Amino acid sequence: MSNAATPPIDSKVFRSVFGHLPTGVVIVTGKGPSDEPLGITIGSFASISLDPPLAGFFIGRASRTWPLIAARGAFTANVLNAEQAELCWRFAKDATDGSRFSGIQVAASGNGSPVLPGAVATIDCTVQATHTLGDHDLVVGAVTGVQVRNTSQPSMVFYKGKTGDARIES
Ligand SMILES: Cc1cc2nc3c(=O)[nH]c(=O)nc-3n(C[C@H](O)[C@H](O)[C@H](O)COP(=O)(O)O)c2cc1C
Repeated sequence: MSNAATPPIDSKVFRSVFGHLPTGVVIVTGKGPSDEPLGITIGSFASISLDPPLAGFFIGRASRTWPLIAARGAFTANVLNAEQAELCWRFAKDATDGSRFSGIQVAASGNGSPVLPGAVATIDCTVQATHTLGDHDLVVGAVTGVQVRNTSQPSMVFYKGKTGDARIES
């Protein structure tokens, strides 16, 4: 709902303020029309519902990779470990030709999506719903499989534009 008395939010300030909210980082992977591996770095992935199990993320409407994955109806969220900064940036750079996977030996998840080596955990989903919200779509996935795969490194955290780790001393 818009309110004429509310001053507009500057997009740089918006980004900077949200940069103070730490997020985890996943690479959402799937397959393209020729079975090619595809993936996108995503910081907005979150659990939504336990019963039924749902998880989702927000994808920019300008994404070139997501429509290709969505057309196949399934994806896997690969939770990055703190030492995978190179992958975080690589899958955020422009590329729709599968080159994001060059030199990476992937396994297959339960739904056939690529599993990245070193991923802390994977969450397999089928696309249940997509809702357009401003310049992003909310993608809701029905969770079909969950697996912790690698606990030798802490998970990655993204904070103020930089990667770090989620180690919490106890
Ligand atoms: C840490 C991090 C988190 C990101 N989170 C998101 C996100 O939640 N949603 C989104 O649409 N883009 C996100 N991005 C940006 C996409 O990875 C980037 O726009 C990518 O180039 C999209 O690729 P595509 O056009 O091939 O789909 C993120 C990037 C980084 C580095």
